[in-house]
Amino acid sequence: MTSPRRTFAIISHPDAGKTTLTEKLLVAGGAIHLAGEVKARGANRRARSDWMKIEQQRGISVTSSVMTFERDGITFNLLDTPGHEDFSEDTYRTLTAVDSAVMVIDAARGIEAQTRKLFEVCRLRSVPIITFVNKVDREGRPVFELLDEIADILALDVAPMSWPIGMGGEFEGVLDLETGGVSRPEGDSRNFQGKVDTDVTLPERFAEEVELAQAGYAPFDAEAYRNGDLTPVYFGSALKDFGVAELIDALARHAPPPRPQPAEPAPIAPNADEVTGFVFKVQANMDPNHRDRIAFMRLCSGTFKRGMKLTPTGHGKPIAVHSPILFFAQNREVADEAFPGDIIGIPNHGTLRVGDTLSERADIRFTGLPNFAPEILRRVALKDPTKTKQLRKALDDMAEEGVTQVFYPEIGSNWIVGVVGQLQLEVLISRLEAEYKVAAGLEPAPFDTARWVTGEAADLKAFADLNRGAMAKDRDGNPVFLAKSAWEIGYVADRYPKVRFNATRER
Ligand code: G4P
Repeated sequence: MTSPRRTFAIISHPDAGKTTLTEKLLVAGGAIHLAGEVKARGANRRARSDWMKIEQQRGISVTSSVMTFERDGITFNLLDTPGHEDFSEDTYRTLTAVDSAVMVIDAARGIEAQTRKLFEVCRLRSVPIITFVNKVDREGRPVFELLDEIADILALDVAPMSWPIGMGGEFEGVLDLETGGVSRPEGDSRNFQGKVDTDVTLPERFAEEVELAQAGYAPFDAEAYRNGDLTPVYFGSALKDFGVAELIDALARHAPPPRPQPAEPAPIAPNADEVTGFVFKVQANMDPNHRDRIAFMRLCSGTFKRGMKLTPTGHGKPIAVHSPILFFAQNREVADEAFPGDIIGIPNHGTLRVGDTLSERADIRFTGLPNFAPEILRRVALKDPTKTKQLRKALDDMAEEGVTQVFYPEIGSNWIVGVVGQLQLEVLISRLEAEYKVAAGLEPAPFDTARWVTGEAADLKAFADLNRGAMAKDRDGNPVFLAKSAWEIGYVADRYPKVRFNATRER
């Protein structure tokens, strides 16, 4: 018997409390499996410590992991999105592999830059979002103000599901708007949630607030939530473990199970017999001596069994998946099967790439896993000119993994790398050195951003001929226009209406 799945991610701005909440969720579920730990077994320690070095220096987690826990008969797959200042395509792509997201907001700060960016990605795919307003044990902004901000900035309907009875020093608990019960802090440090008080008379001030709220905001509407048009809002404190159980219950009750996934020629329903999935992340370098990688596949349909043969659509022979990494809750004994919504780690030697579809029959292809136009471009300066070949191999490999993008200009030999976040540049340089023994530096590039150009062959040629100095090819040989500024893109787009300048590209 398979238990229902909830595959989700947490999105937030740094410091909102994602790590704390993740921990509390895992404790509540009672089982932890970290991707990094699984892979580190038997792997070269040094490689691991190279990664750790960056992680420690920056105080962030470079790698996304998959964590699984079970509660009340439901299996939750939590995909971690790195929550540092800048983010990589990894972060975006992880969001393509989830069915819903939890948006954590600091009650004192409201919607912040990163929350908003990540939210936009969720919206692109209509990922339903449950909002958790965190840190109500501290002084926060007025609740109405927070709710209105979510509604205004994100253009979403908000449906408060609970209500904090005071915040900070006056915090008296969280009222469940559906049942009317209040869970109150208990103990000397008021550090944990006591039993739920069902027979409550609220102080007048709060009774009025709640009445206003119930009149002023949309009631919860499951369909609007699942379409990504409405967000139910819960209040709590991850640190004090307040409202966390309610959040899990909300995921169990409202968050969608695996949904049909967009694919060609037709969407794939989770109950289809054929085993299908797509790769949303590739992680390498746990052992620099072996070019082993782990491709993280989200299973979209069928029952995966260890040893099964899957074929990457469009390229490659069938791969027998003998030693998949299955991220299961600790108390599951049989880890030989996986079900739609689960994540499987597939060791391979570079055959599998981000965006690949894997299936038994190889006649479908999942869509909507884009590459994003880089926001930072740098010229790669090789310190030892005899290492050109190694450099090219390294840049290609990392482009395949989705760590960085690479552009080979049509004129000249200044290879350009592109990233969506600064951190990726650091990862690039340290991996060039550690894994490929290539010493390289990064210099400013004369370009600011890039666009994939598409259109009729003749129109493209006419455009490329006149802009040769700004044309390049990406890892897969697709034509790319390197622009000096966002303004320039607008300018050329006006002048060449038949050419499309795309900020994303699907493989
Ligand atoms: P992040 O992953 O989103 O970046 O946030 P993280 O969980 O690391 O939390 C950031 C800070 O906010 C931490 O404090 C954490 O303890 C605190 N925090 C998280 N949830 C709550 C909450 O519900 N209430 C209160 N009052 N604080 C909360 P720090 O001082 O930066 O770190 P630490 O030394 O406490 O670990």
